[in-house]
Amino acid sequence: MSFWQYALEILVTLAHIVSDRLLEFIFGWYLGPHKRVATPQSVDQQVILTKSAVELAQQIRERKIKCYDIIKAFVERIEIANRELNAVVDGPFSEALEQAKVIDDKLAKGEYSEADLKAKPFLGVPFTTKDSTAVAGKLHTLGLISRKSERSAEDAQCVRLMKRSGAIIIATSNIPEVNKWLETRNMLLGKTNNPYDLRRSVGGSSGGESALITACCTGFGLGTDIGGSIRIPAFNCGVFGHKPTTGIVDIAGCTFRTGKEKETMVSAGPMSRSSKDLLPIMQILVEPSHRAALKLDEQVNLKKLRYFYIDSNGMRQCNPINNETQRVMYKVRQHFATLSGGDVRQTQLPHLKLTGKMWRYWMTQEPANFNLLLGNGVQLNPYVELFKKLIGQSEYTLAAIYSIIDGILPKENESLMRKATKECQKALDDLLGNDGVLFFHSSPRTAPFHYYPLLKFNDFAYFSLFNVLHVPVTQVPMGLDSKGMPLGIQVVATRNNDRLCLAVAEELERTFGGWVPPFPLKH
Ligand SMILES: *[C@@H]1O[C@H](CO)[C@@H](O)[C@H](O)[C@H]1NC(C)=O
Ligand SMILES: *[C@@H]1O[C@H](CO)[C@@H](O)[C@H](O)[C@H]1NC(C)=O
Repeated sequence: MSFWQYALEILVTLAHIVSDRLLEFIFGWYLGPHKRVATPQSVDQQVILTKSAVELAQQIRERKIKCYDIIKAFVERIEIANRELNAVVDGPFSEALEQAKVIDDKLAKGEYSEADLKAKPFLGVPFTTKDSTAVAGKLHTLGLISRKSERSAEDAQCVRLMKRSGAIIIATSNIPEVNKWLETRNMLLGKTNNPYDLRRSVGGSSGGESALITACCTGFGLGTDIGGSIRIPAFNCGVFGHKPTTGIVDIAGCTFRTGKEKETMVSAGPMSRSSKDLLPIMQILVEPSHRAALKLDEQVNLKKLRYFYIDSNGMRQCNPINNETQRVMYKVRQHFATLSGGDVRQTQLPHLKLTGKMWRYWMTQEPANFNLLLGNGVQLNPYVELFKKLIGQSEYTLAAIYSIIDGILPKENESLMRKATKECQKALDDLLGNDGVLFFHSSPRTAPFHYYPLLKFNDFAYFSLFNVLHVPVTQVPMGLDSKGMPLGIQVVATRNNDRLCLAVAEELERTFGGWVPPFPLKH
């Protein structure tokens, strides 16, 4: 590196640090004092609400807790916590309580056979999903004023599968308009607040989900991820989220997808308070035709895996990795070096600096027309919408208008982006094979204040890289930083090696504690 290049790097880094501090200061002042979500009202409630989905399922079938009491506790929790979070679009659903009564009744009478119980591992467990994922008979607004009373005719495939596994849907949650932003805010419902600090962003697009999960308003959630939409909110709200290998979970009914799309970066996957919920949920969600390749039942020997890490994506547009975030990577490296008796090797992948451009290119290859989605069938004129916004007459957020303006900016160089993607994919395949795991930062810093991403949004490239590469990634919470916001890390493997990500996530939870409640626990 020449002297001038070096000087430029330093200047860019300084500019990031200064602007980051400045934005923290200004938005912090504008949004007022720090406040967290309320603690559950009683210890009894807290005991139920903080359990993992797998624990809830076990206690229901062993009749240690009534399904009715569980659903009631979560429904009441939603009613209280949602006043602060503003995360629920539709619900809590009263019929969930009816369903719970039926389950308790059948369990008491011994009316479930062994086979029934085996087919319904999540019998009676409450769950939620984002508004953009269809739930029969429930609101399906996509965050648009023009769709404020639209309802879904039928369930998305992932919702259908969870219901079939015995789980009970209790609410749907907030998203940014047509899912296309990394905060959760729209003109229909407003913004969803982070349970750890109500002034901060929950991330997006599955931000209503992550808020509900970490605030103990639901047993678990289903998200979708085209550029980090499961992992950004999971990171911001300190929960687990798994973006599966692209194509192994049917996305029919998610943001109007048919599930037949050939070229797409979208995956649907689980979000939860415990890493132990992810694998059993994946076992429900994975399409039968992919089961053999995934070998989800196969035991993973963590000592025999090879571990790698990358300390930065090198993109000038991203914030530099801050100290507390670097420390997370350091702790993870130490642990897996000890565990495997080898090194966690530092590595690099080609073209990471092009992540933003690669993702932008592949977004133009998506079968969805986001402009048309946003207009609910009407093609919007970006200039007109921007003008309307400036005079306060728009029915869209500035973030949504950004995304249609992006559509008229010069396109990325197709051959260059395809080549870069291929080379990066190949390098990752060669590096990890079927027994390698890569640790990658989730974000250079923890959850920003509301609106901060309108000014600095490129950090999401740390997530979107893995949509470009179509590989599985688990987002793992790693304690809180000095501001009380969740830290985290991404665990990456090659295609169809989801089980490696999940096994490593469980090890990280065992070692570092996983989810930390956003409220002080009652004793
Ligand atoms: C970050 O860590 C480095 C090295 O440990 C230290 O010199 C520096 O002061 C730290 N910066 C902040 C902002 O804590
Ligand atoms: C795309 O990039 C390639 C390789 O750098 C270059 O040869 C080509 O002219 C570029 N195409 C366009 C349309 O800019």
